[in-house]
Amino acid sequence: MNYKIYKLIAIGLSVFLIMFAFPANAFSQKPVKIFILAGQSNMQGQGETTKGEKGNLSWLVKNDHEGKYQHLVDKNGEWEKRDDVFVYSKDKFDVLHTGPLTVGFGALESTIGPELQFGNAIGDYFDSKILLIKTAWGGKSLAVDFCPPSTVSPSGYNQIPYNPNDTGYYYVQMLATVYDVLDNIQKYVPGYSGEGYEIAGFGWHQGWNDRINKAANEAYESNLVHLIKDVRRDLGTPNLPVVIATTGMKSYKDNDPMELSLINAQLAISTYPEFKGNVSVVDTRGFWRDAVDSPAKQNYHWNRNAESYLLIGQSMAEAMISLLNDKSHTAELIRGVSKSTYKGLAPTPPMGWNSWNAFEKNIDEKKIKTIADIMVSSGMRDAGYKYLVLDDAWMASKRNKNGELVADSVKFPGGMKAIGDYIHSKGLKFGIYECRGSLTCQNLPGSFEHEQTDMNSFASWGVDYIKMDACFAAKNGRLSTEDFAIYHDAIKKTGRPMVLSISDFGQDAWAWGGKKYAQLWRTSMDIYKNIKSVYRCAETSGGAGSIHPAFNGLWQFAGPNHWNDPDMLQVGNLKNAAEDKVHFSLWAILAAPLMAGNDLRVMSDTVKNILLAPEVIAINQDSRGQQGYKVFQKDSIEIYNKPLADGTTAVLLLNKGRRKTDVTVSWNQIGLKGNQPVRDLWEQRDLGSFKNSFTAKNLEQHGHKLIKVGTLGSEPLPGPTPVSAEKYTVTKIGTTYLSDLFYIMKEFNHPVADKNFNDEPIQFNSVTYKKGFGCKSKSMMMYKLNGKANRFQAIIGLDKCSPEDKTGKFRILNEDKFSGRVIFDSGDMEKGTHQTVNIDVSGLDFILLEFTGKGVFGNWADAKVISNN
Ligand code: GLA
Repeated sequence: MNYKIYKLIAIGLSVFLIMFAFPANAFSQKPVKIFILAGQSNMQGQGETTKGEKGNLSWLVKNDHEGKYQHLVDKNGEWEKRDDVFVYSKDKFDVLHTGPLTVGFGALESTIGPELQFGNAIGDYFDSKILLIKTAWGGKSLAVDFCPPSTVSPSGYNQIPYNPNDTGYYYVQMLATVYDVLDNIQKYVPGYSGEGYEIAGFGWHQGWNDRINKAANEAYESNLVHLIKDVRRDLGTPNLPVVIATTGMKSYKDNDPMELSLINAQLAISTYPEFKGNVSVVDTRGFWRDAVDSPAKQNYHWNRNAESYLLIGQSMAEAMISLLNDKSHTAELIRGVSKSTYKGLAPTPPMGWNSWNAFEKNIDEKKIKTIADIMVSSGMRDAGYKYLVLDDAWMASKRNKNGELVADSVKFPGGMKAIGDYIHSKGLKFGIYECRGSLTCQNLPGSFEHEQTDMNSFASWGVDYIKMDACFAAKNGRLSTEDFAIYHDAIKKTGRPMVLSISDFGQDAWAWGGKKYAQLWRTSMDIYKNIKSVYRCAETSGGAGSIHPAFNGLWQFAGPNHWNDPDMLQVGNLKNAAEDKVHFSLWAILAAPLMAGNDLRVMSDTVKNILLAPEVIAINQDSRGQQGYKVFQKDSIEIYNKPLADGTTAVLLLNKGRRKTDVTVSWNQIGLKGNQPVRDLWEQRDLGSFKNSFTAKNLEQHGHKLIKVGTLGSEPLPGPTPVSAEKYTVTKIGTTYLSDLFYIMKEFNHPVADKNFNDEPIQFNSVTYKKGFGCKSKSMMMYKLNGKANRFQAIIGLDKCSPEDKTGKFRILNEDKFSGRVIFDSGDMEKGTHQTVNIDVSGLDFILLEFTGKGVFGNWADAKVISNN
């Protein structure tokens, strides 16, 4: 290593390390992206993979209610190994670990550190190969061991640090390690063939040790500034993006003065003007997990909780991507529940205007340009409505000879690039519609089998947002997951970030994990210009319209960068302002995308004021991203609650019914107590302090109050509890009756568990079945098998209460209706007959049970799945 130290110092630490070697055969390959992850024992990583009762990685994967960690395991339940991200890391005993990123690159092979999720997130984002160089040593101080040379003197250390006790020894080791790895990059990046590399970013997670010594603690902020500058200088990368993860001792409750002052020193880095847009600080305190939920009571080392380490890695990656992506991005510090500084493409529900509700097919260049102008002049753009989306019927009925989409030349004579340029020139973003079927819903060319070509065209026109419809997609013969994996990759290949909005009539994207591919998905059929339709769409996201009532809406499937979309706004198209307002309030509380759909050219001031209501928009755009959920529903009265990032909560009190009524929310329904300040968000007025509850008086039909309750700046209020995985997925070996699980998606009539639709016992041929369900045509429901079941069995037939002369049909589809794969079809069945179903469902993640007929009742008696292993 001495040679390396010598080399480092002798060459004045100013070597050019961003090298692009381009041998003749490697032009097509991108340089390897290098990320350095440096620091102390927490960077080495102490998250347990299997030890302890709770909070280890295996436990997390098993108890993964939201499907957040399933990417860590492969189909056989083994730890996933990436083929695009590689690691160089020494463990705490200096044992070298290298190879494809997987679990076990922590301080020991039985642990993980931030590298795991950092590498996964970075790898998902970038197209090139990635090498993570981990250099970390436990128990080291920034004042001594990692001492940046410029803190000693402009010419560096007084003596070359040869011994571990010498000032700066570990700083030099860190850089020497990086040099060493880069000199031998072909050893660590399989298939490396001289394509070169770039040092893309530096991540730092350290600090625990410095708080022990007062002087080191006091010098910390200044030392950290020097570290950033020195590392950049010594790597020859003056603008190297740097992400610092705070040491995060003991959650937000930590009030030890030394610990706090150290955390504050780290946080302060985010306020340096010179670091704006090139250094981010991740406040990690929200990632703390208490000892009872963790593998160990260690206190430091994050109680060895694997989730804490995953969250640190994820946030560091997001912050890094943000810095790399957008040099003008402000390195902003986000505290508390919001986990990181990286915003993603849709950190809050997208806002904009879409042509469909206002104009349907009748769009053209002139109209769209006028709309763009008005989005600016009306103040909509500045209020957040940034996407101008051209819906269906912008394209010509035929592709060009290269198979590319082209604009309808009558409607858009200047072509799509020109309209995109115009939209951009107004400071807006450009959205476009396509369909994953072979035709759009208006029978124009769809993207099926032209996916990459079309995404390339969109990117070349400067598109920022794609609404992907689903008409004719059932003929693709592909599952939604298959279709969207194709689009996701195709978009990634273009190199242009584009929001992907799934428009699938609300089939099931939340259920099959649309968030892996897209930022938002429809939860409903199309919205129409009447309040009933508005309420129906709202129910698909906030109520039991699309899912089992036990979920209390779809909130558990939404959050930053993955939103439930109950369809675009009809504000301005409804009967009166009261209807427009309640529609807007509902979309705000549901964290729904706000895509205006009115003709802006004739927008009244009343409508404009609704769309621009700043405090209502703020609820929708809250950075916490918690979708509002019902805390009360009876008859026509509904109360929704949406806890916010600032420690307060938004509450919607609503009367949908005809009778005038009072609606009261009590503080215990929303996690508060005693006296609480209340603000009216439409009136933008404080209403005073209220003890234990608040009553909205004399609400007319569609009358409502949207209020904010609580004290600004308090610790964020707890959110609702999600439904756990075993309640809605097959998790056990043996028999699982489907009526014991909550369906994850339903359309049309809901099924009745263990009874016929009339709530009587299920019977065929005087045999009574205790399990199963009764349905009324038409009914469609989806059950999540999770690849765990082998057979589906049931006895099916029309119920005794079904009319005599009508037939009904039972079908089972593989996963979703878009695959078009029917795995069982009963044919038309008459009353008095029944059939036994016993089919193979091995490996299927979902099945969709469908019952159709005209006004008929049918039963899936004894419906169950059997799992062999
Ligand atoms: C479907 C979508 C609508 C709209 C039309 C266009 O119905 O759900 O939002 O895009 O297609 O044809």
